[in-house]
Amino acid sequence: MKLGRLNHVGIATPSIADSVRFYREVMGAEVIREPFDLPAQGVKVCFVDTPIGRAGGTGGPQIELIEPLGEGSPIHGFLAKNPAGGQHHLCYEVPDIHAAKAWFEAKGARVLGEPRIGAHGTPIFFVHPRDMGGVLTEIMETPKMAAGHGS
Ligand code: CO
Repeated sequence: MKLGRLNHVGIATPSIADSVRFYREVMGAEVIREPFDLPAQGVKVCFVDTPIGRAGGTGGPQIELIEPLGEGSPIHGFLAKNPAGGQHHLCYEVPDIHAAKAWFEAKGARVLGEPRIGAHGTPIFFVHPRDMGGVLTEIMETPKMAAGHGS
């Protein structure tokens, strides 16, 4: 497998609304997408764009703000330990999700569950932080269309 593009940095937050305000007013973010629910994953997410290169224009890695959705949300445990929120995971793109899963398993890294549709509408899986240098890692199949920043 060849390491792909860093697609996004996942940031858990108790309030997407408060975090959006922070990214707009303190970080100067200019492009903040509409938040939406991902009920199957127990989260509400909102993407903040970063520019690609110095010239600007979107297409750089995004910040994925993640708020718990529902009582069974996997984010509750994280927020219990980090009440103000914090960095939750990194997400890298790969061309083929099934090939990537087989690759990580062959390396002895624990893949958490089967590939499922993620926030960008393409299949994703997570790899256990204990096998990833302490970083919860999301692997995402590159969207087929252009830069992959549709909705
Ligand atoms: Co993510």
